[in-house]
Amino acid sequence: MDIEALNKIAVKMVTPGKGLLAADESTGTIKKRFDTIDTVSTEESRRDWREMLFRTDKAMKDHVSGVILYDETIRQNAKDGTKLVDLIKSHDSIPGIKVDMGITPLAGRPGETITQGLDGLRERLSEYYILGARFAKWRAVLEISHPDQYVGSTPTRGGIKANMHALGRYAALCQEANIVPIVEPEVLMGGHHSVERCHEVTEKALNALFTELYEQGVKLEGIILKPNMVVAGKKCAVQPSVQEVAERTIKVLKDTVPSSVPGIAFLSGGQDNEIATEHLDAMNRIGEFTWNLTYSYGRALQQSALSAWRGEEANYAAAQKAFYHRAHMNGLASKGEWTKALEDSLEG
Ligand code: 13P
Repeated sequence: MDIEALNKIAVKMVTPGKGLLAADESTGTIKKRFDTIDTVSTEESRRDWREMLFRTDKAMKDHVSGVILYDETIRQNAKDGTKLVDLIKSHDSIPGIKVDMGITPLAGRPGETITQGLDGLRERLSEYYILGARFAKWRAVLEISHPDQYVGSTPTRGGIKANMHALGRYAALCQEANIVPIVEPEVLMGGHHSVERCHEVTEKALNALFTELYEQGVKLEGIILKPNMVVAGKKCAVQPSVQEVAERTIKVLKDTVPSSVPGIAFLSGGQDNEIATEHLDAMNRIGEFTWNLTYSYGRALQQSALSAWRGEEANYAAAQKAFYHRAHMNGLASKGEWTKALEDSLEG
């Protein structure tokens, strides 16, 4: 392991003004996204969609430090035969790869899941390195049960421990392969829970995560953390203000994340596009922390472009404009320079 090289990549991934584009939807997930625009998901349509994003030159050059790819995409060529990986690199953006194999029910812990993919991971990482990946992603999922559920409420201590253990094992294997691990413990935001409950669970998860990373010999200078923000469940009647989300998220991170971690790149988790930008901006305006805070958004970077594209080549330019606009706005937010006026006035 070359920790200096890993640190250099990690630092570059969180360059102020830039962030990560999560384009690593599994085949099942991207089908769901395409269903919303009445577009059939085929190897070719998935390639066309992603090629369109990677050819949005200004967005890529100015605001996308790296792209998280799916196994299919890292092996694909653009229409003209250029490798998609080379297209990404041509913008000085770093190719990365999702290496987890999705979630499955955790035995003995009803209502909880565990992420699969450790078996054979060492070999897969060596291949991905050869294919051009310099960072990887593994997503652990924690679901908060309904507030009325007392017996059998989740996540349990055992569920958190199992998931953070897997993240630690994954991260150690990545560093061994000279690949920067993005460690993603996601507390889902779909439920009825309060912002206070999300705060509590996020804090527990991050504490458990950093214990595991330490115990498994992971060098913190060579990782990127990809957490959720501290928000209320979507179905909770009481929703916090943007400022409260920003303050709580910073508080949790300060309480749990060592300063040797170079950067934190948030997932958007189903937040509306603009809210995800506003939250990131509000955190960077608070400042006074050691890590660079940026985005590693999937939906919040792609949704508006997807609606503009609708699977039609004729809409290519409109989709690129929409993608640039979101990338630009999030780029500003990563420096605490986003404003509502800019959001509404600037052309994409
Ligand atoms: P979202 O921003 O859509 O949550 O996706 C980010 C991601 O990579 C989830 O694993």
